Amino acid sequence: MPRVRVHQHVNPLAPFYRFTPQPIEIEKVFADPGLPLHLDIGCARGRFALKMAQMFPEQNFLGVEIREPLVAEGNRLARVNNLVNLHYEFNNATYALDKLLENLPADVLHTVTIQFPDPWYKKKHAKRRMINGTLVETLVEHLTATGKIFIQTDVDFLAEEMFGIFRNNSSLREIEISENPFPVKTEREIAVEEKALPIYRAMFEK
Ligand SMILES: C[S@@+](CC[C@H](N)C(=O)[O-])C[C@H]1O[C@@H](n2cnc3c(N)ncnc32)[C@H](O)[C@@H]1O
Repeated sequence: MPRVRVHQHVNPLAPFYRFTPQPIEIEKVFADPGLPLHLDIGCARGRFALKMAQMFPEQNFLGVEIREPLVAEGNRLARVNNLVNLHYEFNNATYALDKLLENLPADVLHTVTIQFPDPWYKKKHAKRRMINGTLVETLVEHLTATGKIFIQTDVDFLAEEMFGIFRNNSSLREIEISENPFPVKTEREIAVEEKALPIYRAMFEK
């Protein structure tokens, strides 16, 4: 099966991406909706979530991605691999993650990962960056009492900016980490490590 071809970047501020999604009904997408939920935001082709879902059948994995063809392909691969604990949603997380998660039960979201979000280097494109205060508040609202958020990037100024937004939220506490706590690396992480470039990581808990 050839790789699905997509644009390298899409502008999350473009009218096409400013849509209001239907709230996710986890009882319709997971075989056991009561399992702890891991949300991977900006999951691209979703290979991290797929491998994690294979390794941890006692958790559910939800990948959120703005490039719709990757979502369709991810859900196809979940079906082909009989992964009843894996699902992907087409969503502009910066704009409407709150709507997607509106009906999420209060006691399921235990882990959030945000890995190598697009940096949008130019100052005039800063509003296109994924993390803002509203997104962080949405995560805090849905995270369980012991829930954790893991963020990583290879872009130094973006690390500073994103970690700063999380640090500014008084409901979150930063936990010191020295390495990636997950046993699976994302495609971007593998590419960065192959070039031996630095990776900036942070973890927050409620
Ligand atoms: C550089 S890629 C990293 C992909 C993957 N997390 C990894 O580490 O390999 C960033 C991903 O975030 C997605 N993305 C960017 N803005 C988004 C948004 N507002 N909502 C959801 N996904 C977004 C992009 O389409 C892309 O797939």
